Amino acid sequence: MAVPDRIAPPPAPGLESRHCAWRVLQAVAAGAYADGALERELARTPLAPLDRGLATELAYGSIRQRSLLDAWITAHARVAAERQPPQLRWLLHVGLYQILFSERVPVSAAVSTSVELARRIGLVRLAPVVNAILRAVLRRRQDLPARREAWDGLMLPNEPAAALALCHSLPAWLAADLLTWLPAGQAEAFARATNQPPALDLRINPLRTDIDAQLRAFAAAGVVALPLNDQPQALTLPDRSGDPRALPGFKEGHWCVQDRHAQAVVPLLAPQPGEKILDACAAPGGKTTQIAESLQDRGELWAVDRSEARLRRLQANADRLGHGVIQTLAADATLLAAERPAWIGYFDRILLDAPCSGLGTLARHADARWRVTPATIEELLVLQSRLLEALLPLLAPAGWLVYATCTVEPRENRGRIEALLQSHPGWQLVQEQQWWPGLHSGDGFYAAVLQAPATSAKEGLKAAVGH
Ligand SMILES: C[S@@+](CC[C@H](N)C(=O)[O-])C[C@H]1O[C@@H](n2cnc3c(N)ncnc32)[C@H](O)[C@@H]1O
Repeated sequence: MAVPDRIAPPPAPGLESRHCAWRVLQAVAAGAYADGALERELARTPLAPLDRGLATELAYGSIRQRSLLDAWITAHARVAAERQPPQLRWLLHVGLYQILFSERVPVSAAVSTSVELARRIGLVRLAPVVNAILRAVLRRRQDLPARREAWDGLMLPNEPAAALALCHSLPAWLAADLLTWLPAGQAEAFARATNQPPALDLRINPLRTDIDAQLRAFAAAGVVALPLNDQPQALTLPDRSGDPRALPGFKEGHWCVQDRHAQAVVPLLAPQPGEKILDACAAPGGKTTQIAESLQDRGELWAVDRSEARLRRLQANADRLGHGVIQTLAADATLLAAERPAWIGYFDRILLDAPCSGLGTLARHADARWRVTPATIEELLVLQSRLLEALLPLLAPAGWLVYATCTVEPRENRGRIEALLQSHPGWQLVQEQQWWPGLHSGDGFYAAVLQAPATSAKEGLKAAVGH
């Protein structure tokens, strides 16, 4: 058997986690979604649970903090961060994130693993640059008091929106908008919340178990779970780590993962057993399955979505939870009145959980803040109004429609509802609610409950769509 002349030394502890995080940053910069890229990298890198946790924290944290980390690079390098070779820029992000944010990584390890990673990925000649920049940042931070913010040591702009954007790593347009939506202190609380790992909330499936039984099952497995008093079926797992699908009761359909405020939307729709319900933008089905539970699995529940792939996920969720009442339909919800005339005036209740900018879930989607732009919001406003207009005819007289989003952008929320009410006299706004990250714990959501006029415009509407 051939014996190698030199046996390669084992990699430094934790190097694989950093390498994995760096590859995720590269993939996201090339257009991949952060969660998909991380899942792919973790699948091809065998890591112990603690190292998987570190790779996840470094990848998501560095992506969230992209613009603040860039500011540190620009302040200490000869060339601005955006003009650095991308491989170097992302490597510095992983190293700087550890220095500025990570409580579990000693700064010496942050520097040494970054230098070693530079060599491993073929940036041998740039390893001294990595070392020099990271050590310069460390020196800048050494003289600061112990309780310091990640931006302390940088020159901050005087202009409030630019300072908010820099300190909390937000796009400039979002920081400026936030300061028009909220007082400065609340805008900052929102910004801080977007940079915290999100809570892991569950919704108990009352058709299979109850909260007390599930709490006992978690306690027996050593999993800390707490009820959330304002949501009757909700638990939160404060010590979140690992894949929730491995936890007791998942395979048996005793619960699903759903944010606490996402769980607050279906109670506003108030579905009653036996009713006819349309969930018009339904996939992956967090709210459809909750509606099925409110219906006690009795009635007629249509889950429509234009994405077949996402509807397959919805069906898998419904099967696991044991909800037989759900029927799926891949269709464009703006065309339902024309394509399914029998549905005009048919539904007791309709949920429109609209496609939106997702600004309430930035903590959950590390890369989302860098994807959404003012232009995408303009397009969404048009789609949201088209969806609303298209669904009104499907509601029975005096029926309820709940319009929901996971954003805090007022034009996507109250703005859509005000525009609708202006052009549809006779429709009532029964109630509305906005949850803000930072002001409330959990994701940001909006929901408005609308009621159709008591007398039907069914015949007129049928005529309008040509039937
Ligand atoms: C916010 S998500 C829905 C989340 C879902 N209600 C839940 O709770 O799991 C919005 C959904 O709208 C779908 N969608 C976007 N435009 C649509 C359209 N014109 N017709 C039907 N579905 C659409 C998207 O595919 C996406 O699945």
